[in-house]
Amino acid sequence: MNWLREFSDRVQTQVSLAPLTWFRLGGPARFLFRPRDTDDLASFLRYATDEGVATRILGAGANVLVQDDGFDGVVVRLDTPAFKRCDHNGESITVGAGVDLMQLSKRLSQQGYTGLECMAGIPATVGGAVRMNAGGRFGEFADVVSDVTLMEPGGTVETWSRERIDFGYRRSAIGGRTVLSARLTVTPVDPLVTRARFDECFAAKRRAQPLAEHSAGCIFKNPKGTPAGALIDQAGLKGHSCGRARVSEQHANFIVADRGARASEVVSLIREIQERVRERFGTLLETEIDVW
Ligand code: EPU
Repeated sequence: MNWLREFSDRVQTQVSLAPLTWFRLGGPARFLFRPRDTDDLASFLRYATDEGVATRILGAGANVLVQDDGFDGVVVRLDTPAFKRCDHNGESITVGAGVDLMQLSKRLSQQGYTGLECMAGIPATVGGAVRMNAGGRFGEFADVVSDVTLMEPGGTVETWSRERIDFGYRRSAIGGRTVLSARLTVTPVDPLVTRARFDECFAAKRRAQPLAEHSAGCIFKNPKGTPAGALIDQAGLKGHSCGRARVSEQHANFIVADRGARASEVVSLIREIQERVRERFGTLLETEIDVW
């Protein structure tokens, strides 16, 4: 545990993760570390690698289900100023991993830069949006990414082109590396156009999804053919619950957690949905969320 001695002034212990996730449930992190800057992160990762310390990066917590017994390792949050920089240079903008995607998409759309309107209302940090290739029907994050600067587990920094990142449907080749920043290309157009497009994407999301409730967005990836939401709906599972975890009546690919819900109830509901959809349609739904 040499790492703990080295970083003790910026490590918190037994930190509740529920308030840091959109589900608002799950147990604590044994440690939470907020690096001051890239060098600090590199030094921490070297210790963690050498000493076999389990680490996870937590972004906006919008796609994560933390189990009830929490995470027995170090949760890293890139929310210090060094990771929240935005350097705008003409049509190129370099954004830190800790930048809030919803705010970024709103600000750029307000200013008339096109490219991120389709991210309206998607809760994420830039780091999470790169790793998962966040997006939906109107577009995905990969569409605007030129390259990504990331850190290897050993602390070395590299810049990868979008081709090397190999974006796919809710996936990338980032793996066990840490995203530090992304360089995006956004084109200036008439601000009236980008504002209207942003509003349209946000309104569509609000109409279709239970945004006021606690969830992790879509639980399952869409399989080939019929979307997951439609399969779960046709299996008659809307409103079906397991304890205080419930299939949303508004969108069947969302599980909403009522106050007091446990992660184990969400997990049981996920399994039950998978079984019922498989029995009925022969399709195995694959989860989109990260279970810690
Ligand atoms: N549908 C139903 N019942 C439902 C929900 C949906 O029949 O309860 C039907 C819809 O009528 C539609 C089809 O299923 O014909 C697809 O639904 P929708 O248009 O709502 O989109 P989706 O495929 O369920 C995807 C992304 C969302 C993204 C939206 C909008 C996935 C798994 N989901 O949803 O992303 O917001 O498009 O762009 O790819 C997320 O990743 O967390 C997420 C919410």
